[in-house]
Amino acid sequence: MRLYFLRHGIAEDLASSDFARELTKRGRRRVAGSAQVMARLGIQPRRIFSSPRLRALQTAELVAAALDMEVSLTEAVNFGFDLADLRSLTGRLGADDEVMFVGHNPDMSLLVSELTGVDASMKKGGLARVDIPGKTLDDGELVWLIAPKVFDALHGSAKGSAEADKPYGQTPASKLPQTAYPLHDLIRHRWSPVAFDREHDIEPATLLSILEAARWSASSANLQPWRFIVAPRGNREEFDKILSVLKEGNIPWAQHAAVLMLTVALRYPKPEFYHRHASHDVGLAVSQMVMQALQFDVYAHQMAGFFPDKARAVYAIPDEFEPLTAIALGYRSADLDDLDERFREREAAPRQRQALSDMVFNGAWAQAADFLGDA
Ligand SMILES: Cc1cc2nc3c(=O)[nH]c(=O)nc-3n(C[C@H](O)[C@H](O)[C@H](O)COP(=O)(O)O)c2cc1C
Repeated sequence: MRLYFLRHGIAEDLASSDFARELTKRGRRRVAGSAQVMARLGIQPRRIFSSPRLRALQTAELVAAALDMEVSLTEAVNFGFDLADLRSLTGRLGADDEVMFVGHNPDMSLLVSELTGVDASMKKGGLARVDIPGKTLDDGELVWLIAPKVFDALHGSAKGSAEADKPYGQTPASKLPQTAYPLHDLIRHRWSPVAFDREHDIEPATLLSILEAARWSASSANLQPWRFIVAPRGNREEFDKILSVLKEGNIPWAQHAAVLMLTVALRYPKPEFYHRHASHDVGLAVSQMVMQALQFDVYAHQMAGFFPDKARAVYAIPDEFEPLTAIALGYRSADLDDLDERFREREAAPRQRQALSDMVFNGAWAQAADFLGDA
């Protein structure tokens, strides 16, 4: 059994009651940084138990957000948390289980000392890992104790490294383009994966930012001809509806996306006005959406492979609109084991592009622009 003891971060001195004392701004910032380090260290407890006091709960919530978990509030971790409480919380755990407790001093320091026989002194925001090799709690081993200052340094050094600071820096080398000229990192790291994380949902706030990015796209005459039918997988009925209009080749991987979406263009803003640039503008909005998504480490895979007429029927899309594409959105999975061989190959294949000279002309049609040189 692996136990993590986290003392809450720096809290305000005064509040209406001790219970209501909140983390200070600095306390919040430091815990958020520590939480990111915990995620990078691969700390993945099965549960996070927190004292109900606000400063502990806020600390636990920041950690839970970084580890994509939920917090379990329990009176047992409140003031006076002791061996008996610990025994009752861990009684049903197996040898391989990991649990985190977020609470207060002196309890946290005392417990770590009692479990390990080491005189442990935990600062606010400090984290101790205690491994329990046997069945009883008293033969614990203090594996490490990370002081908040060390978390600060670890978080700061990660920030200093350009790649580590960007979630999308996890791009496999085969997918990073060999660019002829320097590009913005977001553009370099965008690609269309087929291996999506089957459990990590897109948080509502993240999804809203992604859609907001589309909303603020440019469009011809500001007509904003884009519409999106959006189904997070939590809404199974809606998700399956979009899945049902995808072509067969896309279903094996798109079914694991966190969100499925259809894009629809307003083709006839007025009965006599065919909007020639509607598809262009929807594409532009989608491009912004895809880039904003990547900023959150959410990847997009666009699809022409769906049945527009079926989509029109399923959603009763009016005649003046045209279903254009489907999009799968989700966090990427590095685990390719469950993918079909053909998708596994695709996930590892290098990305290909034509040369700039095949697409950038001047002087005459298909004549490579004179400023291109050898690009
Ligand atoms: C409008 C559009 C339609 C696409 N349709 C499909 C599709 O139906 N199935 C699929 O697997 N990929 C589809 N793709 C993804 C492309 O194959 C992919 O973008 C292209 O191969 C370039 O790879 P990259 O996005 O990784 O750079 C589509 C992309 C776009 C923009």
